[in-house]
Amino acid sequence: MGVNPSPVTGQKVTLTLANESALQSAGGSIRRTFDGNNGGNAVLVVRVSESGAADFKTMSVVCTHAGCAVNNPAGGQVRCPCHGSTFGAQAGNFAANLSGPAPSPLQTFPTTFDGSLITISF
Ligand code: FES
Repeated sequence: MGVNPSPVTGQKVTLTLANESALQSAGGSIRRTFDGNNGGNAVLVVRVSESGAADFKTMSVVCTHAGCAVNNPAGGQVRCPCHGSTFGAQAGNFAANLSGPAPSPLQTFPTTFDGSLITISF
């Protein structure tokens, strides 16, 4: 059951925080597709804190139940519109399946921050 994770590509993608107005404060997020990474599907980059290297986390939008694209974060969660699974979007529960039929967390991608650049490893 469930959707297979996207293959690891080994690519690193860098975002400049100064250019990302939606990521200036905790709780902000962007939804973006990066070339062929994540199987060509979008990811959500979420700012989960304002304290340093662990400020940003990245998860796939592909629901692990049947592959629908989850909604953008709201109230610290993301919700899948197809059958209602919810997933965490905060530091302590990021991408975790909180409710609904999804069998596993959303796929995540290691994300680092050096104070100005956000680097996502696919
Ligand atoms: S595809 Fe997301 S809950 Fe079914």
